[in-house]
Amino acid sequence: MRILFLLQAFLLLLPLAGRSAPTDTHITVETQRTALVIRVNKDGDPTVVHLGRRLQSAAEYASIPNNGKRAEDYTGIYNSAYTPAGGRNLLEPAIQVTHADGNPSLDLKYVRHETANVSDGVVLTTVYLKDPQYPFEVNLFYKAYQKEDVIEQWSSIRHTEKKPVRMQKYASANLYIPAKNYYLTHFHGDWAHEMKPEEVQLTAGLKIVDTKLGTRADLFQAPSFLLAMNEPAQEDNGEVLAGTLAWSGNYQLAFEVDPLQNLRVIPGINPYASEYVLAPGKELVTPAFLFTYSTTGTGTASRNMQRWARKHRIPDGEGNRLTLLNNWEATYFGFNEEKLTALFQDGKKLGVDLFLLDDGWFGNKYPRNNDHTSLGDWQENKTKLPHGLGYLVKQAESTGIRFGIWVEPEMVSPKSELYEKHPDWVLKLPNRSEYYFRNQLVLDLSNPQVQEFVYGVVDGIMTKNPTLNYIKWDCNAVIYNAFSATIGNQSNLYVDYVQGLYKVMERLRTKYPKLPMMLCSGGGGRVDYGALRYFTEYWPSDNTDPMERIFIQWNYSYFFPSIASCNHITDWGKQPIKFRTDVAMMGKMGYDIVVSKLDEKELAFSQQALKTYDRLKDVIWHGDQYRLVAPQKNDLASLMYVSDRQDKAVWFSYLVSNRYGSGSQALVRLKGLNPAKKYRIQELNVYPGTNSAINQNTAVYSGDYLMTVGFNPNVSTSRTSVVLEITESN
Ligand code: DGJ
Repeated sequence: MRILFLLQAFLLLLPLAGRSAPTDTHITVETQRTALVIRVNKDGDPTVVHLGRRLQSAAEYASIPNNGKRAEDYTGIYNSAYTPAGGRNLLEPAIQVTHADGNPSLDLKYVRHETANVSDGVVLTTVYLKDPQYPFEVNLFYKAYQKEDVIEQWSSIRHTEKKPVRMQKYASANLYIPAKNYYLTHFHGDWAHEMKPEEVQLTAGLKIVDTKLGTRADLFQAPSFLLAMNEPAQEDNGEVLAGTLAWSGNYQLAFEVDPLQNLRVIPGINPYASEYVLAPGKELVTPAFLFTYSTTGTGTASRNMQRWARKHRIPDGEGNRLTLLNNWEATYFGFNEEKLTALFQDGKKLGVDLFLLDDGWFGNKYPRNNDHTSLGDWQENKTKLPHGLGYLVKQAESTGIRFGIWVEPEMVSPKSELYEKHPDWVLKLPNRSEYYFRNQLVLDLSNPQVQEFVYGVVDGIMTKNPTLNYIKWDCNAVIYNAFSATIGNQSNLYVDYVQGLYKVMERLRTKYPKLPMMLCSGGGGRVDYGALRYFTEYWPSDNTDPMERIFIQWNYSYFFPSIASCNHITDWGKQPIKFRTDVAMMGKMGYDIVVSKLDEKELAFSQQALKTYDRLKDVIWHGDQYRLVAPQKNDLASLMYVSDRQDKAVWFSYLVSNRYGSGSQALVRLKGLNPAKKYRIQELNVYPGTNSAINQNTAVYSGDYLMTVGFNPNVSTSRTSVVLEITESN
């Protein structure tokens, strides 16, 4: 009888346990449209009670039930803002440590929080947490980019225990979302087929997306994802979170549907082989997790991310870029001064801004004539380039174009003078066979001497050739046999490697703030906002077949802006030069072809296309991107860029099916225009000798008409790519 009474009382109290108490503190992190709300109860436990649309009245956050209250949470911390392991936690932790005295538990209680305006529209909230039993502290940082609706979250960990603390896990963030269902789109692939999206409905338990490659984090699984709530992701409707971890090394994205059917998202450095040993008084700052929450689909989410990146992350993100001619596919390793000087002239004739000399220019004891030797020996090869780089820079400049160069400074070939001189600078296990990835090994960037060397490679080239105007930084190997000859704690290596790399990049960026730099990793093996803090652009894939690139570029665009996407016209694929050019134009355009092999019409078309691009690049690079027709489910891919003033737009459409009669049968509704404005539509990149039916049409349409009724770009098997310019007309 007594037991029954107690049970009844317990059940009656259940709903109350889910509510906020008047003594609770609410910490609100708000952008224009989104709010992340942390509740701190009387015991000092910080929990996430809201992540989604911002409420009009902040006072009402106090009414939100804990855990989206659906049933009992045995621990009260399923929705912890940073779940500590070892105490009463029952789920995936955000942090797990073993204290100096061997105690394997952590408790994190709220101490205080503060909010500061970092710059116009950027607000940083810091939440200070501490273990009540140990001098062990965690700070949670939430930087709200209010206008762009992006939140950047990271944590910092420090202690003053008597001896080092061993940390088995140290995530960047710990989010909590109550919804009916969750649909995760993650992006995976390999060399030449990067960023393939796959949408899965999350089921109860854990789903992990991660990498263990050490250097080329993005190669198999990208650190970027879309998460749609309730329904699968849609372009213009529905709640979706776009997230990406700014880290160029091993990462882990953990998604856990908990026993209450709520979703916990825990992104951070991969705990795999990375128990981090933290000395007393030292601080570990975790990489930033960036996310945006949209209630109007993936379109808004990606425009938020792109705008944020241009304004706040990518160097010169709102500035200019150079069109270029790269010689990789034109010559591979087989070039000399004479050949290169002729290529400069070709580049000038074509009309690009810069010539980029790729792999193969260095090494003397072991000349770099194939990919088996020489990485590390960054001196000009005297046979190919007897007069050195300085001569080439001058030759290019006297031809009227700038000069840039390829380097891969983190790497070493087993056959190189560098390896002979410094075998202890290489990551490898002393008692195991060497494993090579593209015939090469990785230098130990946890070693400050190696950092100095890598910095010196680029700095040396720039000091000797101050007008050299572009660096392509490649990274072709993963880390095998991870072991450093000099590091104190081997399990810190994966983290220290990336930190060492960033130290070098930071120094270079500080010394050369204006230098354009391309982030490349044997194709798109390294595309993340950790490295993109230092690079003006990235190489999405070695696969430049334009049909493939439509998909690859489309998928990167969920997270990265067009100004940073290096799209080159090459000989990959069977499509005509017009199609290849039209696809490259949707980002930062470049060439990697033998210009002298273009016939008269192809050359004339390309020269005109570069002039057109020059006129429109401002809209393509700095405008808002709208995806109109998705290539995954339709005969065509169609997307457009609209200027901020909505007075100009560029609209790209490509045929992606070769079935009989495929094309744009229906009108395509435009987006992002001003309904009240009038627009004229003109076709661009019309191939010499052909006519555009669209250009006969002198009609003027309202934005309202174009967005409600639409317009047919007339894509068909005889018009496989169509570029249209939309201009405000009075
Ligand atoms: C891989 C890159 O992705 C290519 O563009 C080219 O630079 C080669 N490396 C050179 O080795």
